[in-house]
Amino acid sequence: MSRVYIFDTTLRDGEQTPGISLNVEEKLEIARQLAKLQVDVIEAGFPIASPGDFAATAAIAAEIQGPVIAALARATVKDIEAAAAALQEAKNPLIHTFIATSPIHMEYKLRKQPAEVLRMVEEAVKGARQFVDDVEFSAEDATRSDLVFLAEVVSTAIAAGATRINVPDTVGYTTPGEYRRLIRYLKEHVAGIDGIQLSVHCHNDLGMAVANSLAALEAGATQVECTINGLGERAGNASLEEIVMALATRQDTYGLHTEIVTEHIYRTSHLVSALTGVPVQPNKAIVGNNAFAHESGIHQDGFLKARSTYEIMTPQSIGLHQSRLVLGKHSGRHAFREKLKELGYNLSEQDTEQAFQRFIALADKKKEVSDRDLDALLKEELVAIPESFTLDYIHISSGNQTVPTATVRLTRGERGIAEAACGSGPVDAVYRAIDRASGIPVQLESYALQAVTGGKDALGEVTVRISDNGSSYTGRGISTDIIEASARAYVHALNKLVYQKGPDSKNVARQEGDV
Ligand code: KIV
Ligand code: ZN
Repeated sequence: MSRVYIFDTTLRDGEQTPGISLNVEEKLEIARQLAKLQVDVIEAGFPIASPGDFAATAAIAAEIQGPVIAALARATVKDIEAAAAALQEAKNPLIHTFIATSPIHMEYKLRKQPAEVLRMVEEAVKGARQFVDDVEFSAEDATRSDLVFLAEVVSTAIAAGATRINVPDTVGYTTPGEYRRLIRYLKEHVAGIDGIQLSVHCHNDLGMAVANSLAALEAGATQVECTINGLGERAGNASLEEIVMALATRQDTYGLHTEIVTEHIYRTSHLVSALTGVPVQPNKAIVGNNAFAHESGIHQDGFLKARSTYEIMTPQSIGLHQSRLVLGKHSGRHAFREKLKELGYNLSEQDTEQAFQRFIALADKKKEVSDRDLDALLKEELVAIPESFTLDYIHISSGNQTVPTATVRLTRGERGIAEAACGSGPVDAVYRAIDRASGIPVQLESYALQAVTGGKDALGEVTVRISDNGSSYTGRGISTDIIEASARAYVHALNKLVYQKGPDSKNVARQEGDV
């Protein structure tokens, strides 16, 4: 069986999902999980794009062992130098350089003639090879490019020293049959193509990113670029978990294998969802909450007689386990530690103790604490940022015949700051009171509430996105009280803002209202 190489671009193309903004610690945490998943390449960022992207790429390059670490660069000297500098500490660095090759992009975006593009391809690949031995060249919008010109571009890149060639379906326009033919055409018309990694990269505008990627692999592509949960520009990229599980489940058809540790898929998906604030739709293939749920009586009957009647892969194969250990308020530290191990968490002593205290508080309100509750709770311990503000106290008065009013007290350092406000509803009132107490006026861009499990005593999980001067920050909060969860999420996002902007974030030094 031939091997397919998995090039994960969650931290680069995935981070281009509208509204997502991950800080360096969050990107590092995702990169650590991708290394456990055993992806072959982690595309860590686009270093020239921003100081944050540069810092995250450099931090991942310095810490993560195992996968190749890639950085993106346009076909310019400045971009390539920035990528090389960010990758300096990587054990296995890869510079990924690209330029568009379709008539529409060359004419309207680049305003360049094909001959000039060809010259830039050669210079970019040669320039990148001066810094690293592993260079990928991508022909952006390859699927809308002229075939003969595309073959010339690819030949030029290989002759200049590219070790990987990527043929992206940048706008999600191709179809499985067409993409298969394109890959075959390149394999037949480009000298030296069999000696390099031939990569595909599909966007999901017509919902065919995974199908197109699989078709290209059938035609002889050896590497596939994809993202966790299918995150990415517009409708997203091909989803890693769908490609990997399709190859694993249908080895009879594809005869291909990956080195992915599939048992880490579920945790990776949930970590990415928690840190990006982008929920996974319930019916999402592989990792959606309903992916292994059987609702209809006929299905349940068949499933109970033999799981294989309605299950083509096991939940265990993606890391979803039937729990041996159910926790409640009488569970002690020993059981809690065992459960952390069972769920695959590896927390420091201090984080474990902090998580245990939060578990005890939750178990007081909820009879049984499920694995999903714990996952939701533990995610908050994973990427702990300094808490400039803590939520001390919250009181609301609300009803259908009264003006919703909230009183909130935040602590900043030694100082307590109390404020009250009215709003159109209790969440609005709480957020207005927090705005006053923090002194940081922000815009609320999005708010989402979901129950972590079923039942009236379920934990509510709130995800918010706030913005300030064009930068956005995601916050998460959980509680059995949805108003408290809403307040915690908002304060979490504010803390990220202060952390990223520095303690001088405006207006935090207000005095009136201090208690
Ligand atoms: O979709 C695309 O073409 C890209 C390239 C930069 C590879 O993301
Ligand atoms: Zn892309």
